[in-house]
Amino acid sequence: MNRLVGKEVFYYESLDSTNEYMLNRAGTLDEGSCVFCDFQSKGRGRQGREWLSLNGKGLYFSFLLKPKISLKEIPRLTISVAIGISKAFDSLGIKTMVKWPNDIYLNGKKLAGILSELKILDGNNVVVGVGINLLHEKGDFPEDISRKATSLLIETGETYDRRQLLEVLLNYIDKEYVFFLKRGIDIEYFNRKDFLFGKSATYKGEKVLVRGISRDGFLIIESGGTLLEINSGEVEF
Ligand code: BTN
Repeated sequence: MNRLVGKEVFYYESLDSTNEYMLNRAGTLDEGSCVFCDFQSKGRGRQGREWLSLNGKGLYFSFLLKPKISLKEIPRLTISVAIGISKAFDSLGIKTMVKWPNDIYLNGKKLAGILSELKILDGNNVVVGVGINLLHEKGDFPEDISRKATSLLIETGETYDRRQLLEVLLNYIDKEYVFFLKRGIDIEYFNRKDFLFGKSATYKGEKVLVRGISRDGFLIIESGGTLLEINSGEVEF
């Protein structure tokens, strides 16, 4: 298999966090190296949140990229990874949506999240971590999350094999990464799968409408008849 992302895949039963593992080895491992595990004792999510990493219930993996892009392009890279993941699910007949900036939704609930972290050594080392809910049943999620989260088992009734699913995901993420380096975000695909499109949000205390994303990966909102491009920290849904 001649792919970059996932050219080497390491497996552990348990790690503190697959992102932490990769960040610690960014200087010695090749671009494309990937690690996955069954359980994370300190799985982390975006904005300092914890990522629930129940033993054997989810697919928790991270891979290392060394793109020659500027810092401000990293959010776009993460969107491309989300697109690759969504295309992988399409190939399995699972109709996911992409929620800007980097979540995967299925039937209106969050199925997967992505956390990109950067380490600058002699160049950019971007660790992209992905958590996918596979075998969770409704009662496995804490009450505050259960209204918003779902798993492949809950939505499809099927038990997906972690290793096989990881292979499919890595193949699609790899293709999307190659596309991204040449041409950027596959915006046509994103527009077809945009979970937030047309939804209302709050920006600076005002109600606005989501109108899509720009090629640079900003969210486009409509506020009082004007279109604005904004960053992820600036808006609430
Ligand atoms: C989010 O939606 O907040 C992002 C969640 C990212 C979770 C994954 S699980 C594998 C990798 N290791 C971590 O510690 N976090 C990411």
